Amino acid sequence: MAEQVLKAEDVSKSYQVAERSIRVLDRVSLVVAQGEFLVVEGKSGSGKSTLLGLLSGLDRPDTGRIFLHGRDITMLSEDQLAPFRNRATGYVFQSFHLVPSLTALENVMFPAELNRDPNAGEKAAELLRRVNLYERGANFPHQLSGGEKQRIAICRALVNRPQVVFADEPTGNLDSANGETVLHLLLELRRELETTLVLATHSREISRSADRILHLADGRITP
Ligand SMILES: Nc1ncnc2c1ncn2[C@@H]1O[C@H](COP(=O)(O)OP(=O)(O)O)[C@@H](O)[C@H]1O
Ligand SMILES: [Mg+2]
Repeated sequence: MAEQVLKAEDVSKSYQVAERSIRVLDRVSLVVAQGEFLVVEGKSGSGKSTLLGLLSGLDRPDTGRIFLHGRDITMLSEDQLAPFRNRATGYVFQSFHLVPSLTALENVMFPAELNRDPNAGEKAAELLRRVNLYERGANFPHQLSGGEKQRIAICRALVNRPQVVFADEPTGNLDSANGETVLHLLLELRRELETTLVLATHSREISRSADRILHLADGRITP
């Protein structure tokens, strides 16, 4: 049995909308093994983004615990959590979320610089080379296509060689050709770097290459 890199225990999350509380996740538990490619499937609104946000420490559950590399991240203060999250995780968003005022290279370097990595520039340049965007390093996000932006965002998610990468519908804003390129790149890089990948999607096409698929419906997970 491979090492557990991520574990959720009885995690619940509700949102307050007007006077009503909507329970999006209802005592969800799961374990992700080191190196695994896990897909979280579910209809739009089923709670995929909410779950990834909680697992990655971007957001906090109402109840339940989340262990990232053996550490209970629900016990950490925001000041403790932020640097840990930056080292241990990478996040790829559907809408890229690049910093508009930074160049492509600077965007990729950013998490490594936060980490005070003296080789941030070198590592970022190497990743840009790997995704065939080295010559676009000085461009700003608005000068790049959607597919290029997502390849940059993938480099940024990987620059600290995190144990776990989260990808929330990473091809959702791309046409099918670009989506395919981005997906293949993400899967290739994760294999090369031996990174665990947790990916949310409603595409059956993507799920086909997963090691394991979890379905999210009515706040619960079914295998
Ligand atoms: N910040 C929020 N405030 C209120 N409701 C939210 C918030 N974020 C998500 N929701 C609601 O929670 C449910 C799950 O959303 P989400 O996790 O984004 O699902 P998915 O990613 O599967 O489409 C939806 O009904 C959505 O409207
Ligand atoms: Mg979503």
